[in-house]
Amino acid sequence: MWEIIKKLDKLRAQARLGGGEERIKAQHRRGKLSARERLEVLMDPDSFEELDMFVEHNCADFGMHDTHVAGDGVVTGFGTVHGRRVFAFSQDFTVFGGSLSEANARKICKIMDMAMNVGSPIIGINDSGGARIQEGVASLAGYAEVFQRNVLASGVVPQISAIMGPCAGGAVYSPALTDFIMMVKDTSYMFLTGPEVVKTVTHEEVTAEQLGGAVTHATRSGVADFAFDNDLNLLKQLRRLLSFLPASNRAPPERINTGDDPRRQTPSLDSLVPDDPLRPYDMKELIEKVVDNYDFMEVQSGYAKNIIIGFARMDGHTVGIVANQPLVLAGCLDIASSIKAARFVRFCDCFHIPLVTFVDVPGFLPGLQQELGGIIKHGAKLLFAFAEATVPKVTVIIRKAYGGAYDVMSSKHLRGDLNYAWPNAEIAVMGPKGAAEIIFRNEIRSAEDPEAKLKEVSAVYASNFANPFIAARKGFIDDVIMPHDTRYRVIRGLQTMAGKKLTNPWKKHDNLPL
Ligand code: HXC
Repeated sequence: MWEIIKKLDKLRAQARLGGGEERIKAQHRRGKLSARERLEVLMDPDSFEELDMFVEHNCADFGMHDTHVAGDGVVTGFGTVHGRRVFAFSQDFTVFGGSLSEANARKICKIMDMAMNVGSPIIGINDSGGARIQEGVASLAGYAEVFQRNVLASGVVPQISAIMGPCAGGAVYSPALTDFIMMVKDTSYMFLTGPEVVKTVTHEEVTAEQLGGAVTHATRSGVADFAFDNDLNLLKQLRRLLSFLPASNRAPPERINTGDDPRRQTPSLDSLVPDDPLRPYDMKELIEKVVDNYDFMEVQSGYAKNIIIGFARMDGHTVGIVANQPLVLAGCLDIASSIKAARFVRFCDCFHIPLVTFVDVPGFLPGLQQELGGIIKHGAKLLFAFAEATVPKVTVIIRKAYGGAYDVMSSKHLRGDLNYAWPNAEIAVMGPKGAAEIIFRNEIRSAEDPEAKLKEVSAVYASNFANPFIAARKGFIDDVIMPHDTRYRVIRGLQTMAGKKLTNPWKKHDNLPL
C-alpha cells in the first residue's frame, strides 16, 4: 500500500507540473500565473479539489501518440469562494498551448454538468491557443459541447469568464455566452481572426492589443465587462463579483451584514444637483453615498459611460443599480447604453437581484448615426428588459425624465413597484425649451422679441409641467422624497417588496428585439 501511495503522490506531483517547470517559468516571465496558481488565488485556501487530473488525450495523429500529459491542458474541479461552492476550469497554456482537445472538453463539460445539477456558479479561466489543431473536428465538437452547456446554464447558474491569455477564433464564443467577461491588460486578447488574417483580408495593420486587448474590449467593443492590470487583481475582483451573486436561480443572493445603518441620511445629496438644469453632476457620487459602505462594483465602467450599471448592497442585500450619467452625453440613452443596461437588467432578473434605478435622462440621443444604427430596435431592448423583469423594482427620478426615455427607465408603467422623485425632478414629454418652441410656435414667431418670448413661454411650461407633481397627482410617482432620505426610502421600498411574486404569461421564450 505504501508503495502505491508513494506512486500516487509522484503521479500527482508530475501532473501538477503540467507542461513542466520551464514552461511555467515562461508563463511567469510574461507576467502570467499558471493555471493552478490562478485557481489557488481564486478559491478559498485549501478548498480546491481537482478532478480528472490523470485524463489524457486520445489522439494518435501528427506524432501525438507519444505526447501525453496528465490533465491534457486544463485543470478542472470545485472549491469554495467566500465559503460558497463554485466549479471552475483553468486552461493550462503550458500543455499544448492550453488548446482544447476532445478529452479536455469532456473535462470542462463534466464540471459544467455538476454545477448545473447542484446549482453553483461556473468560472472559466481562458488561456488557450484554441482548437487542438492535431485533433481537427473532434476539437470543434468539444467546443460545441461546451457552447451548448453555456446556453443551457444561462439564467440558471452565474457563469463568469476570465480571459488571461489568448482566446481566439471560435473559442471566443464560450466566454461570449457567459454572463461576465473579465480580461487582463496586455496579456490577454480575444478576436475571431488575428492581426495576420486581418491584414490579408482587409489590408488593415493592427496589433493584437488594438484588435482584441482588454482595453479595446472594455472601452470600444463592449465585449469585456472588466479590464484589470494583472492576474492577481482580476482574480481578487472575480471573488468580489461572486460575493454579490447567488449560487443559482433557485434562491436569491445571501444577505451580508454590512454594518451600515439603513436609516443613515446623506445631507450632501440635498446639494448634489446644480440649480442650472444644463449643468451636469456625477451620478456615481449619488450611488456611492446611497449604497452600503460606499461599496459599488461597477460593470462596464469604461464603455457607454452615459449609463452606469453595477452591483451594490442595500441593508446587506445585493441590488443591481442602473443609472443615467449626466456627465456623459447629458445622460441620453443611445444604442450602446441601451444594450449595456438591457443585458444587465436581464441578468439581475434571472438571479432574483432587485433593481434600483436612478433616472436623469433628457431622452434618446438624436442623430442619423443613431437612427441608421437601429436605435429603435436597440432602445427597445432596454424597454423590453425592464418591462419583463419581475424582481422588485425601485426607481428614483433625480432630475430629468423626458419622453420615451421616461417610460423606459423602469417607470411605473413598466411595473415599477415604487417610483419616487426628488422635488426638483422634471417629468415631461420633452425639455421646456423644445416644448415651448412647438406649442407656442406662432406666439414666438409673431413676438417683437422672439428670444424673450421663448424664454417666457419656456418658463411657463417648466413651472406648469416640468416638475414631479403632475406625475405624482396621477399616481405615476408614489412619493416625492427628500434627497437626503433616498437611502432609507429605497431600502424600505426593497424591504416592502421583498416577498414579491409576479410571473409573466407562459411562453416558450420571449422574442427580445435582438
Ligand atoms: C495545438 C497548440 C495550439 C493549438 C498552440 N499550441 N496553439 N497546439 N493546437 N491550437 C502549442 C504550440 O505548438 C506550442 O507547442 C505551444 O502550444 C505554445 O505555443 P507558442 O506558439 O510557442 O506560444 P506563443 O508564441 O505564445 O503563441 C501563442 C499563440 C500561437 C498565439 C496562441 O500558439 C498560435 O497562434 N496558435 C495557434 C492558434 C490557432 O490558430 N488556433 C486555432 C484557432 S481556430 P510547443 O510544443 O512547440 O511548445 C479555433 C476554432 C475554434 O480555435 C472553433 C470553435 C467553434
